[in-house]
Amino acid sequence: MYELLGLGDGVRDFTDNRDKRRSVAPSGHTSEKRTVHSKITKKFKTESGQLVFHHGHGGEVQATDGTTYLDFVMGYGPVVLGHNTTSFTRAVAESLTNGVMMPGYTSFHEEYLDRLLADQPGRRGAFFKTASEAVTAALRLAAIETERRGVIRCGFIGWHDAQIADSLKWHDPLASPLRYKQKYTENMRGVGDSEPVLNWHDLSLETLEELIDTHRSTVGCLVIDAYQASMTTPELMRRAVDLARNAGLLTVFDETKTGGRISRLGYAADHGIDTDLIVIGKALANGAPLSMLVGSTEHLATAEKSRLSGTFSKEMLAVYAALATLDELETPRGEFADGWAELGAVGSQVASCIAAAAREAGAETLVSAQPVMGGAMFELTYAERLLGDRASRDALLDSFTDAGILLLEGHPSFVCGAHRDNDWDELTRRSAKAFTQWLTTTGGIGK
Ligand SMILES: Cc1ncc(COP(=O)(O)O)c(C=O)c1O
Repeated sequence: MYELLGLGDGVRDFTDNRDKRRSVAPSGHTSEKRTVHSKITKKFKTESGQLVFHHGHGGEVQATDGTTYLDFVMGYGPVVLGHNTTSFTRAVAESLTNGVMMPGYTSFHEEYLDRLLADQPGRRGAFFKTASEAVTAALRLAAIETERRGVIRCGFIGWHDAQIADSLKWHDPLASPLRYKQKYTENMRGVGDSEPVLNWHDLSLETLEELIDTHRSTVGCLVIDAYQASMTTPELMRRAVDLARNAGLLTVFDETKTGGRISRLGYAADHGIDTDLIVIGKALANGAPLSMLVGSTEHLATAEKSRLSGTFSKEMLAVYAALATLDELETPRGEFADGWAELGAVGSQVASCIAAAAREAGAETLVSAQPVMGGAMFELTYAERLLGDRASRDALLDSFTDAGILLLEGHPSFVCGAHRDNDWDELTRRSAKAFTQWLTTTGGIGK
């Protein structure tokens, strides 16, 4: 039949290419020069240049230079089971025989929502690929419902213009001077006097009240990145949501980093914080692109009238991956009630190894590590005098890369289920090597 279609030779060529791609990482290729890097992908480099990755297995990734790294970046959060884990890869491959896209939504989408929202009666979900899209959808819903286009934002809520304009370094602690430096102040659309984007920067209720009072006629929405809750209490977050709702704002908890990672829906659902809308993303599908806007029937009815979807919203690959991910995370594993509980324990263990390594290297007065929101994420913590020291903090990341560990700084790092098989002594040894190198290259700051 291929001959009939005139594809005979071409088919053999495709197979050759596929075999080549599947085999070991190609060395010395130059295609990375064509790739336009973002600030976040640029972080991973060695002395010989930008790292280009080829494949991953469990909790590790391999770069084209042949080096294997322990991966705590996890694609910036999406990989939650691990890279190419056997049961996940098999389940997704089997589902592919149904096709990748139909004219509309499918029974797979419906099954996913039924399971995701099993204990959320009356809630519905809209499918997107990225969380920025889902947050944009939430902002449009707020504008339609309140007839006010301004936004109060607490945390990083996406990279679309109105989400990132005048943004802060949100993942830095409240005490860090770097947190308060405004970025992306030029050339952003959907921002201005009639549609301000305002930062609730310090998590103080007085500040929030003042923002709402001053901009009451223009702001229609409060969006909170759930990660910011790790810097305060659930009670304060609950009061913030009440304050905004009482002032007529639509309230959104953005659980992009937390939903599907710390629990099924994330922080607000876990703490009974009743927001109008929830955005989830990243960890839902173990790396496949899926994000959702979840809310009441009434709010989502507005979405249906206002063209909140795109061609790829109904794509099935990510939903197959999301179902396979739920299958695993919902299953009890050993002493753990489910995969989310296990992830918390695994990440806490990672943080404790890194903290032990800092002590071993004599760096503990400068830097340590701690679990975030139960442990499915963890972060490096700094002595106050290092918080504003961009160069030293960047150098620490490079030292970890040199020691064969990829993680994030100024942002939580992420673990996956496959990290349960970590060699913990080896993690501590490599981390201590990183801290020692860092102390040496930065001239032993603080010693
Ligand atoms: C809280 C939060 N919201 C939105 C986004 C944007 O997600 P995406 O990159 O999928 O558009 C991110 C990404 O890091 C995030 O952490």
